[in-house]
Amino acid sequence: MKKLMITMAAILCAAAINAKTLVAYYSYTNNVERIVTALRSQIDADVIEIEPAEKGLDYAANNYALGTQLLNAIKANPNDASSYPAIDPVDVNMNDYDMVIIAAPLWWSQMAAPFQTFLFHYGPQMKGKNIGVIVSSASSGIGGVVADAKRLIPEGNFLEPNLWIRSSQTSNAASLISSWLNDIHYNDITSAVTTITADNDFEIFVANGMIGVNGESGTLALYNLSGNKVIETTERRVRIDALAPGIYIAQATNAGRSVTRKINIR
Ligand SMILES: Cc1cc2nc3c(=O)[nH]c(=O)nc-3n(C[C@H](O)[C@H](O)[C@H](O)COP(=O)(O)O)c2cc1C
Repeated sequence: MKKLMITMAAILCAAAINAKTLVAYYSYTNNVERIVTALRSQIDADVIEIEPAEKGLDYAANNYALGTQLLNAIKANPNDASSYPAIDPVDVNMNDYDMVIIAAPLWWSQMAAPFQTFLFHYGPQMKGKNIGVIVSSASSGIGGVVADAKRLIPEGNFLEPNLWIRSSQTSNAASLISSWLNDIHYNDITSAVTTITADNDFEIFVANGMIGVNGESGTLALYNLSGNKVIETTERRVRIDALAPGIYIAQATNAGRSVTRKINIR
């Protein structure tokens, strides 16, 4: 029992430490919300929703007057934090992620203002990360929103193409997302060992349908996300291509050294 609890703790810990993709979104009339619901059924990701601090505002009233006003304030002074509408505090540690998918509505051919606030504060922390962009609009092309994203995440590694889902296509989001994930090679980007350790002498590797350990051999175990051990071996490497696709936790131990990695078998 004790062993099982330690194992489960290790698995939970590894899943938390190695969570890899963050989805951040804002949605006013729920189209992006529905898109993100479809997205999260297809990938393993943490999701945060950005919320304006001021509740109950009607951005579309009087021919979108408030939305226009917020965007004009940003455009007038894009480098000034006070130009951006306040949002609720966001609890996220960007160091946990190496891919961020941002999903936002288009407002007047720009990125919706509250989401710009989020990126103004967190975009610089996305330096070097893979960035996927999803935009929802009624009909306008999304070039302006992508430009806003690139301004606010100046050193992001933007993946091509961006995904544009028109409001009228929202109910078809699942299949559009599935094709898009293929187009950006999402599985290739996020598969295999998720973290590179400084300890190069003792590391789990995945290559050519095998999983193995660099360094002195010890015990290598692989768990599925239900906590079941599906492989345990003292061999240096073992075939994994017969396993069902999905997320697994690999743990290698040897003489007091231990390394745990999340791997994605496709
Ligand atoms: C303030 C505001 C401005 C908008 N401007 C445009 C626009 O210029 N072109 C367009 O095609 N859609 C525009 N829209 C429509 C939204 O982009 C579209 O409805 C989108 O699906 C909304 O996503 P959401 O439901 O997640 O908020 C605007 C919506 C708002 C609220």
